[in-house]
Amino acid sequence: MFCEYYDSGRCGSCTIIETPYPQQLAHKQARVAALLEPLAPGLTWLPSVASRPTEFRTKAKMVVAGTIDAPTIGILDAQGEGQDLRECPLYPAGLAAAFPHLATFVTLARLEPYSVPHRRGELKHVLVTLAPNGDLMVRWVLRSTEALARIRKHLPWLMEQLPRLTVASVNVQAEHKAILEGDTETVLTDRETLTMTVNGVDLHLRPQSFFQTNTDVAASLYRQASTWIDEAAPASLWDLYCGVGGFALHGAAPGRPVTGVETSAQAVASARRTRDDRLAGGDSAMEQVSFVTDDAVAWAVRQADAAQAIVVNPPRRGLGEELSRWLDGSGASTVIYSSCNPDTLARDMAWMPSLTAREARLFDMFPHTTHGEAAVVLQRR
Ligand SMILES: C[S@@+](CC[C@H](N)C(=O)[O-])C[C@H]1O[C@@H](n2cnc3c(N)ncnc32)[C@H](O)[C@@H]1O
Repeated sequence: MFCEYYDSGRCGSCTIIETPYPQQLAHKQARVAALLEPLAPGLTWLPSVASRPTEFRTKAKMVVAGTIDAPTIGILDAQGEGQDLRECPLYPAGLAAAFPHLATFVTLARLEPYSVPHRRGELKHVLVTLAPNGDLMVRWVLRSTEALARIRKHLPWLMEQLPRLTVASVNVQAEHKAILEGDTETVLTDRETLTMTVNGVDLHLRPQSFFQTNTDVAASLYRQASTWIDEAAPASLWDLYCGVGGFALHGAAPGRPVTGVETSAQAVASARRTRDDRLAGGDSAMEQVSFVTDDAVAWAVRQADAAQAIVVNPPRRGLGEELSRWLDGSGASTVIYSSCNPDTLARDMAWMPSLTAREARLFDMFPHTTHGEAAVVLQRR
């Protein structure tokens, strides 16, 4: 893929951009298959799910740098100076069209970009999410609340430029550390959630909740998990690390108790809202669906009995030994492990010798990088 930023040496984020996309996909598949082969000889790999090679990132995490009158929106270079990436080909038109207005907003609201080398300034990042229906969520990550009043004052201007701007918020991240966002969030719009409709399921995203980076590929992932759950037809289902409930809501069925577990109370509130809306619409599959705010490991090991099928979708660090070994010794007959890190996936599977990996599939959420999402269905021997 041609990218002016890569070719001119201004951005190196897409480390394998020079490799033709079909080869990228084949290499990723081969790498994850090689990692799992010793643990699961004869594992069946379903055809990889490819992404669109451009315009697939529905979530933009842009560093703001430069000056109030000439801000950059993109990344920092090795010297800590800003590189503007507003025309990055990974972003769909709905995000690309928003970036120039967000840059103008910096000037209008006099938001001083934070300078990492000088430890001065207020605005660190602008985080933008695009919903499938074209709605936008914009979050400004600030060092303090100093600029909050000016953001409020000029927000109506921004909403005029971006009529699909549905949720706007300010996050405060006071520390001089490479952390994307802090704990404190102030929502500035009447609406607090962006509706991400995936396979007909309305997932309600609040500012601080996780959502997959590539909505189209995420939709394929949820469909695959639904197929594996349908094949297992479990009497009960857990979705550990459930976020806003994608797997749990796709795996619900009449008469099936489903529990999602997640540490983010905001994400749990969103998942409950989807369940309640669907219940109100007469969807009987939601009658036994519940969501719990808790640590997945602590919660799971406290339960007297495991669900018959368990979906796990942890962050890059994986499940770890305690939960992996607990799953291995539990009564679950099916485990679906969706992972964005093949190394921790392979490590965790080694702690589950009683479960056999039956089928797996690569979901390419992150083209032009070596990262990929792999999902595996394991069954008790
Ligand atoms: C890779 S995301 C997956 C989210 C969700 N399954 C989805 O499809 O969008 C991992 C999720 O795990 C949550 N998380 C992180 N540590 C956790 C823990 N110890 N217990 C439960 N959830 C945790 C994060 O907040 C995040 O929502």
